[in-house]
Amino acid sequence: MTSINFKLRNGELRKINAEDGLTLMEVARDNDLGIEGTCGGSISCCTCHVVIEKDWFSKVGPANPDEEDMLDLAVDLQSTSRLGCQIEVTPELDGLIVNIPNE
Ligand code: FES
Repeated sequence: MTSINFKLRNGELRKINAEDGLTLMEVARDNDLGIEGTCGGSISCCTCHVVIEKDWFSKVGPANPDEEDMLDLAVDLQSTSRLGCQIEVTPELDGLIVNIPNE
């Protein structure tokens, strides 16, 4: 299990013990944190848009080209935006801080 901190739209901070191998989209969706993941992770929606806390972005890494194309359509796009379905939970991400952006 890896501890992931989600900052919700209402400012609340939720710490979730996430199963390794799941994606951030799956973790946020399954815990009702305001992420839908409509396409199920096939990079054809923006409903899993998350914003990685700046200090963590180098560890998480940048979006892949397909993901970047889809992120161009996201509301509230930021320099550390990613699609949550493209980030796998691993022990290296223990303590990660993820912001849920505005819809
Ligand atoms: S769930 Fe649709 S792109 Fe991530």
